[in-house]
Amino acid sequence: MTAQTGLRLVKRDASGVDLAFRADVLAGLAEPQKAIPARWFYDDAGSQLFEDITQLPEYYPTRAETEILETRSAEIADLIGAGRAVVEFGSGSSVKTPLLLSAIAPSAYVPLDIAGDFLRASSADLAAKFPGLPVWPVEADFMRRVELPDEVEDLPKLGFFPGSTIGNMIARTATDLLRSMRETLGEGALLLIGMDLVKDEDVLLAAYDDAAGVTARFNLNLAERINRELAGDIPVDKLRHEARWNDIFARIEMHLVASEDITFTVSGQRFTMWEGESIHTENSHKFTKRSSQMLLAAGGWEPRARWTDEARQFSLVLAESRPPRSAP
Ligand code: AVI
Repeated sequence: MTAQTGLRLVKRDASGVDLAFRADVLAGLAEPQKAIPARWFYDDAGSQLFEDITQLPEYYPTRAETEILETRSAEIADLIGAGRAVVEFGSGSSVKTPLLLSAIAPSAYVPLDIAGDFLRASSADLAAKFPGLPVWPVEADFMRRVELPDEVEDLPKLGFFPGSTIGNMIARTATDLLRSMRETLGEGALLLIGMDLVKDEDVLLAAYDDAAGVTARFNLNLAERINRELAGDIPVDKLRHEARWNDIFARIEMHLVASEDITFTVSGQRFTMWEGESIHTENSHKFTKRSSQMLLAAGGWEPRARWTDEARQFSLVLAESRPPRSAP
């Protein structure tokens, strides 16, 4: 295995600043409702905090999805078949990826992630667990079409997008991503995608505002990351984490709320927040069977099978990339 083959680099300026990060933050803080795309949570500290979230008693999605992969692995393997190159959108999760790889006998594993250090560490772990399996990590923003390593070009593909990360996107962005995935994987590819389900509001709010405060630290790390990487002086101690249920859009929203009027600078630009004003940092959409099928269809994916955990908290959908049809 040559872990470095196929590596793509993020664009940085001479001082090492990630140009896309800076552009998103400066544009987002200038909006009337301040907002920063959730993908910027995942620097090394944020990725580690997210791993901690997945262990929390209140955060059911990881356990529920793992349960599906464990209890339905034979059915899932049957429908997918052996010999596919598994392309994971995001670096391998500690538990779910090995479960899938052990179940389906793949021919290669290609994790795609924007957080390079985390990607390399998790790829090395995975390669150690599956000694015979070629692993080709690609450092890339998978929101756009990604060029896969030559070594997997001719293999049938299975996209793997667990965790309901699709729920972190508004419908338009999610549709764009599903279409980009089609372009990355090609027609005839399969996609195994996790989609969290609509449920009791209290269960949802607790999952995004845990008693131990780990989700709060995850949210606040975004402000700390801005300070670290974009020469910011945001007074992080004047921001507090808040989770809200938005019923119209069927989503949990995370916000960083100013506890008093504040002024700060990021990359030389000055911003103010009034007491109670927030930076909207994340959406986590929850789906029904219908809404998940609609979204997949809009992105060019035809659902083939769907599984839920016993408590019906979470769904895992297998879909196929089909040629567009103009008539019913
Ligand atoms: C990665 N993503 C699916 C998580 C979610 O549940 O929306 C991120 C997260 N944010 C707070 N807790 C977990």
